[in-house]
Amino acid sequence: MKIGFSSPALPRTGTLVVGVLPDRTLLATARRVDKGMGGALSRAIETSRFEGKRGQSLTIPAPAGIRANRVVLVGLGEEESFNDLAAQAFGGLAYKAILDGCDKSALIAADPVKGSGLRASDIAANAAFGARLASYRFDRYRTREKAESTPVLESLVVSSRDETDAEETFATLDRIADAVFFTRDLVSEPANVIYPETLAERAETLRELGVRLQVLDEKRMAALGMGALLGVAQGSARRPRLVVARWNGAARGQSPVAFVGKGVTFDTGGISIKPSSNMEDMKWDMGGAGVVFGLMKALAGRKAKVNAVGIAGLVENMPSGTAQRPGDVVRTMSGQTVEVINTDAEGRLVLADAMWYCQDKFKPHTMIDLATLTGAIIVSLGNENAGLFSNDDEVADRLSAAGKTVGEPVWRMPLGDAYDKLLKSDIADMKNIGGRWAGSITAAQFLKRFVRDGVKWAHLDIAGVTWASKDAPTVPKGGTGFGVRLLDRFVSEHYEG
Ligand code: BES
Ligand code: MN
Ligand code: ZN
Repeated sequence: MKIGFSSPALPRTGTLVVGVLPDRTLLATARRVDKGMGGALSRAIETSRFEGKRGQSLTIPAPAGIRANRVVLVGLGEEESFNDLAAQAFGGLAYKAILDGCDKSALIAADPVKGSGLRASDIAANAAFGARLASYRFDRYRTREKAESTPVLESLVVSSRDETDAEETFATLDRIADAVFFTRDLVSEPANVIYPETLAERAETLRELGVRLQVLDEKRMAALGMGALLGVAQGSARRPRLVVARWNGAARGQSPVAFVGKGVTFDTGGISIKPSSNMEDMKWDMGGAGVVFGLMKALAGRKAKVNAVGIAGLVENMPSGTAQRPGDVVRTMSGQTVEVINTDAEGRLVLADAMWYCQDKFKPHTMIDLATLTGAIIVSLGNENAGLFSNDDEVADRLSAAGKTVGEPVWRMPLGDAYDKLLKSDIADMKNIGGRWAGSITAAQFLKRFVRDGVKWAHLDIAGVTWASKDAPTVPKGGTGFGVRLLDRFVSEHYEG
């Protein structure tokens, strides 16, 4: 689908989307259309349940008096709360309603919303961004899809009285959408296609954008002493990798902000094997790594003025004759030893070494890790918020604010010594699990033991938000890419320039 911008105009064909405010208040283009239709638009609204509330839509097929094939009304909700996110939802809903028809072209009229305080160009750019995010499909393995369920829309135009500014703002958002799609693709791929080596290869495509990439193999990792990561990998026929991606958009020598992702390309649980129901979900246990790569793509794509490091620990967690056993003791790169009580608590083992390497090598001032780390965070927060853990209030507040702005909310969870004590082991420096309770917190406490003094750190447990089982306006069901927009925003607001 091609996306472009134009000045306000009524299309000669295709679908026209117009915005409506609550109490059936028509925006400028809707008023023009209503006039052209001899008042039939107003009548259609009056005789329907459509009121202009956010999320509502109403389609009028074959409207008489105007040339468009269909008119779609989308409710924008209250003017005062109409922000960037609401404009994105507008675009997303518009896109969906357009696809209910079979027009090859469509025009979304992004008229000014007076009480919102948004510039006309921001409404248009965000509507276009929302439509693009909604258009994501992962269909490379469908060979027999029926024609009637395949999208036919080829050209989407968003009209605005500030089309030039809209186009410029959208150019950046479009790069972010590319990055979100990159992550969604990685997360959606099955584990026979994406395993450590192939995931590293996909990451290597970022070189085209000027990202510096380095892939460490098993030998290198062994030499570095990454016993925890390698212990997880040892049961699999797939060899592990550690990917190091660097984007240097700021002055040389300026300490970087770092992002570390859990990249378990499939998590069977290992010898502490998982039950078979829903185990297929564990193909997206590399979601943290997927976000790190997507973020690097976003930063490079929009040439962010920041020095950023992205590191991903890539392994497959399998049971086999070579797999690690419950009770094994591994030595991490930090020198600390871990008694592996449960081989299914593998993400923290991978991150422990990836995070240590990150700090050792790059001395970041701030380090954010992302991981589909615990089922317990889904018990706590469901699929609505990611769990946030941090040793620094300012970083936590920045992440919370960024999440709110982009619609990827995070909820801060506590840390504390009492939780840390639960990791005490009889034979090593720590166990890899706590007890039955507070599973996401003890997991975070484990990670915290691999954060060096003076490093500002946050951990995002994204187990509940990496995969969606139902459609949302800008996030089709499947891999969400949650975290890419959030961290891109976190960087652009606080670490650039
Ligand atoms: N990858 C899982 C966590 C997970 C569960 C992610 C469901 C997404 C959906 C992780 O490696 C895991 O198995 N965690 C265990 C930890 C336990 C053994 C302490 C869990 O949450 O049950
Ligand atoms: Mn696991
Ligand atoms: Zn896992």
